Amino acid sequence: MPVIHVTNRAGQKHTVEAKAGANLMEILRDKNLDVEAICGGCCSCATCHVFIDDAWAAKLPARSADEQELVEETEAYKPNNSRLSCQVKITDALDGLVVEVAPEE
Ligand code: FES
Repeated sequence: MPVIHVTNRAGQKHTVEAKAGANLMEILRDKNLDVEAICGGCCSCATCHVFIDDAWAAKLPARSADEQELVEETEAYKPNNSRLSCQVKITDALDGLVVEVAPEE
């Protein structure tokens, strides 16, 4: 089972187990790690915004056009690190992923 290292908005670090096939938002939301995900994962709210660590960002599939458009509009947008966690599917290859929850908009 992949393990993910998460820093929440208070700067606290957590290590959580993630089920392959789930999306990252579901894992963060279910562990109460500051992801509201008010659209439920429909790529329409950006309240699941996270920063993927530099070492991992390039290993993820590219953003879709919808994700790109939405995440670019966030105040905290970081071109190399910002992702909508509902659009990131967990695979065994992401074991050890390092992610930080973005500030609230
Ligand atoms: S949960 Fe709304 S965009 Fe990800």
